[in-house]
Amino acid sequence: MIEDLQRLENNALAELQEASNQEQILLIRTKYLGRKGLLTGQLRNIAQVPEEQRALFGKRCNEIKIFLTSRIEEELNKQSQNEKENKLLKEKIDVTLPGRAIKYGRIHPITQISNEICSIFSSFGFSIVEGPEIELDYYNFEALNIPKDHPARDMQDTFYIEENIVLRTHTSPVQVRVMEKVKPPVRILSPGKVYRRDSDVSHTPMFHQIEGLLVDEGITFGDLKGILTVFLKKIFGQETKIRFRPSFFPFTEPSAEVDICCVMCRGKGCRVCGQSGWLEILGSGMVDPAVFKYVNYNSEKYTGFAFGLGVERMAMLKYGISDIRLFYENDFRFLRQF
Ligand code: DAH
Repeated sequence: MIEDLQRLENNALAELQEASNQEQILLIRTKYLGRKGLLTGQLRNIAQVPEEQRALFGKRCNEIKIFLTSRIEEELNKQSQNEKENKLLKEKIDVTLPGRAIKYGRIHPITQISNEICSIFSSFGFSIVEGPEIELDYYNFEALNIPKDHPARDMQDTFYIEENIVLRTHTSPVQVRVMEKVKPPVRILSPGKVYRRDSDVSHTPMFHQIEGLLVDEGITFGDLKGILTVFLKKIFGQETKIRFRPSFFPFTEPSAEVDICCVMCRGKGCRVCGQSGWLEILGSGMVDPAVFKYVNYNSEKYTGFAFGLGVERMAMLKYGISDIRLFYENDFRFLRQF
């Protein structure tokens, strides 16, 4: 009888040795210590053990039960420890690896320089107004003294939407829209997108312009020169040389294009300025009385000046960028420099 107990204990211990996971260990526990388990069965049959052996038998049963219980507990702990360790090994992370930097967005260089120009003119008392990008032929051309048969229409390759509706080719139509609504004095600046059928290293079908207009009594070409000079020196630096060169625009008379001393060669002559030492930076002039007629301004009483500049061109010259398309490729390496 006692030998049976001994065999039972040995078997249990051997099986425990073989067990390789928690589930198997739990099965062994049920097999020996469960309500219908082998050891429990032995205890239940104690009455059949001869009396003189009964005390010893009972004692051994209890010893074995206690021993097996604690061995099983031990094995279960060992297993769960193993499982934890395996999991940690598999999920190992290298805390010394450098983290991934978060890339922050920035204000686009075109928006930046546009804002800078607007804030300079705001400080001169100009208000900022916007006009539609889909524009009537009347505002884009007609009322700016560019009739249908006028050769100046060739200066701007136009996207037509309908016979009399275009994508505006410049921001100048905003001048007319403003003057139709308000009486002088007028001091406005109008930034926005414009469209032309053009595409190469210095032209994109969409680009940005800023239009300026000032009308009041007694405004002269001297005012135009003064304001544009102060403005350009603020943008390109106080020491920048500036010149006003006679030109032609249908909506101004007289007209002038404004050049700055070449930012690349400082006036010596290079590839960028075509060896001239100068770079054209904006168009301007005294508002043509023919335009005032369209908006019912009395040109005997009022005079004014207007100007228009290309924002991309301004940014390219200020930052030394040679390809306009870089502005629209969303390449973070390019954009993050601003
Ligand atoms: N609208 C002209 C262009 O797109 C630029 C311009 C020239 C605007 C002279 C003006 C101006 O207001 O007076 O080329």
